[in-house]
Amino acid sequence: MHTITVSHPNGKYPILIGEGLLAQAGDLLVRAGFQGRCAVVTNPTVGRHYADPLLTGLQTAGLDPVRIDIPDGEPYKTLDTVAQLYRNLVEAGLDRRSPILALGGGVLGDTAGFAAATYLRGVPLVQIPTTLLAMVDSSVGGKTGVDLPQGKNLVGAFKQPEMVLVDPAVLATLPAAEFRAGMAEVIKHGIIDAPALFESLEAGRYDQTWMLAEAIQVKVRVVQEDPFEQGRRAVLNLGHTFGHAFERLSDYTIRHGEAVAMGTVCAARLAVRLDLCPPDTADRITRLLARTGLPTEPPPYAPDEVLAAMATDKKRRGRQLRFVLPRGIGDVDVFADIPEAEVKAVLGEG
Ligand SMILES: NC(=O)c1ccc[n+]([C@@H]2O[C@H](COP(=O)([O-])OP(=O)(O)OC[C@H]3O[C@@H](n4cnc5c(N)ncnc54)[C@H](O)[C@@H]3O)[C@@H](O)[C@H]2O)c1
Ligand SMILES: [Zn+2]
Repeated sequence: MHTITVSHPNGKYPILIGEGLLAQAGDLLVRAGFQGRCAVVTNPTVGRHYADPLLTGLQTAGLDPVRIDIPDGEPYKTLDTVAQLYRNLVEAGLDRRSPILALGGGVLGDTAGFAAATYLRGVPLVQIPTTLLAMVDSSVGGKTGVDLPQGKNLVGAFKQPEMVLVDPAVLATLPAAEFRAGMAEVIKHGIIDAPALFESLEAGRYDQTWMLAEAIQVKVRVVQEDPFEQGRRAVLNLGHTFGHAFERLSDYTIRHGEAVAMGTVCAARLAVRLDLCPPDTADRITRLLARTGLPTEPPPYAPDEVLAAMATDKKRRGRQLRFVLPRGIGDVDVFADIPEAEVKAVLGEG
């Protein structure tokens, strides 16, 4: 089992990574001082496979768990779902010391995490991510929240968990397309700050638990440096300025991970055009994403449309075009004042 300790402004918490952790959650919670009532928040898709082993372990350890289901899918990452969740938590008799265990992908973790941040002004949260994306990205860093009709993730809170339990065994049931989408973020983390991870993926030789630990470490290092997203954390948006625009223009028919893959290739090509990065590095990035089964050519939207879609990205500051660009594998930075013509040229290359 790997343990990664995350420090944040109010303390620290462990991320535990190992096969079989799901069944050990009860013992881990008891050892961390929890007792009595707790809530497992999940959805029918994930709950069908993993709620029972988790609940059994919690009961065996002497805890008194209740299962609460919320509907599956991004359309339900809403304040309505959170309101229903609050009602269920009150009915189940959860008090200020009762932990919420969020068992599911990023949608579930963001929604249940937001409920944990706000119910009774905050109750303990345990993240049990079950998608690759949730393991390496959304369960780490403390951001929780829900969507509004006007846009994604517009309401939220920083909520640090008590612990994160990553059990790679649950990935066995994850649909292949979801796994590939998560790999886009794993590869992104390799480019940001883990050359050894990137090289192992290129070589096709690695152990899954090691891969998870390496990818998680990158996110941990970045959020520790910048817990409230004021500076360095922007590097995690590699591929996302292009990617968000592609997602939006496709009306979200392009999966996030696929958009990030295409966006990462665009960022690498932009870096080459600006003489920041050798062409060979951009080629390696494109090849690895393609080998993973991810799309690498930008979708055929007019460059002007893509630029307009980028302008509505909430991560964009002022009117400047800012991009996270690679200088090499393991070396990225934020660059401002990128000429529009260069961005258009990259979009036209595809
Ligand atoms: N908080 C953050 O910092 C952060 C970071 C990145 C993304 N996000 C959010 O994460 C969300 C995307 O998360 P996601 O990609 O995990 O999608 P998701 O949560 O929608 O999960 C994808 C699908 O797989 C199912 N599933 C999950 N685990 C499974 C398993 N082990 N076996 C079978 N099916 C399983 C889910 O129920 C769902 O149907 C978005 O809402 C995004 O905004 C948040
Ligand atoms: Zn992402």
